[in-house]
Amino acid sequence: MTSAPPSLQVSGLAYAYPDGHQALFGVELTVARGERVALLGPNGAGKTTLVLHLNGILEAGAGSVTVAGLPVAKANLAEIRRRVGIVFQDPDDQLFMPTVREDVAFGPAAAGMRGAELAERVHRALDRVGMAEFADRPPHHLSFGQRRRVAVATVLAMEPEILVLDEPSSNLDPASRRELADILRSLDVTVLMVTHDLPYALELCPRSVVLSGGVIAADGGTQNLLCDQELMREHRLELPFGFDPRSVTAPV
Ligand SMILES: Nc1ncnc2c1ncn2[C@@H]1O[C@H](COP(=O)(O)OP(=O)(O)OP(=O)(O)O)[C@@H](O)[C@H]1O
Ligand SMILES: [Mg+2]
Repeated sequence: MTSAPPSLQVSGLAYAYPDGHQALFGVELTVARGERVALLGPNGAGKTTLVLHLNGILEAGAGSVTVAGLPVAKANLAEIRRRVGIVFQDPDDQLFMPTVREDVAFGPAAAGMRGAELAERVHRALDRVGMAEFADRPPHHLSFGQRRRVAVATVLAMEPEILVLDEPSSNLDPASRRELADILRSLDVTVLMVTHDLPYALELCPRSVVLSGGVIAADGGTQNLLCDQELMREHRLELPFGFDPRSVTAPV
């Protein structure tokens, strides 16, 4: 078979923070090209720690991560960071330039893009998230939800192989939350989305994995997982009041 390598392959990934706290205990996860997968799990499960390994911000204590066949390792970091677009849990970790335009241009410019091509790339990314008219504003003058949208644009501008979002819907108003869902659905890209917003996972991701206590505790169809009351309880996952996952048509 000559099919493309998986967008993401995580094998036996273990990690302890420098203070000795071990957060990951042998994570196994494969995400095929074009899949949209939700990464669920309670506070402290290790979700953000896992995300920080996907572009080499943290270095595996044991095990490996590959992105489209390329190992995440020091020698490949520039290419890995072009392939893996991460929208961080806190947009303030991502936005640091004097204007929105410069923030969105930063990645493509670092990859060598210049002039009209760069301007067009930036405009397109900002337009997709409805923030084109904010291009000349300083990011720190924007609301949290607006900063989140700009953070998404900085990543879209890189046209990554895999888009990783850490709680993308938190602090978005309902219209922005739906607009972000529309954007994610329209992209022809692999998506790994960390979320506590279970209806959002069901709406966007046919498949979910549950990370709990630093290991993958479940991996399957999102609707099946959300209907498994024992699994949900065991991993502190709770549906919003009145939400019945069986009442929603699962995505294909
Ligand atoms: N810099 C750090 N030093 C030491 N321990 C850390 C550090 N960052 C996180 N941890 C610990 O590692 C574990 C996993 O944290 P992580 O942030 O990955 O959880 P999470 O699943 O993203 O949680 P949340 O849903 O609250 O965002 C937690 O027990 C946390 O206390
Ligand atoms: Mg987190």
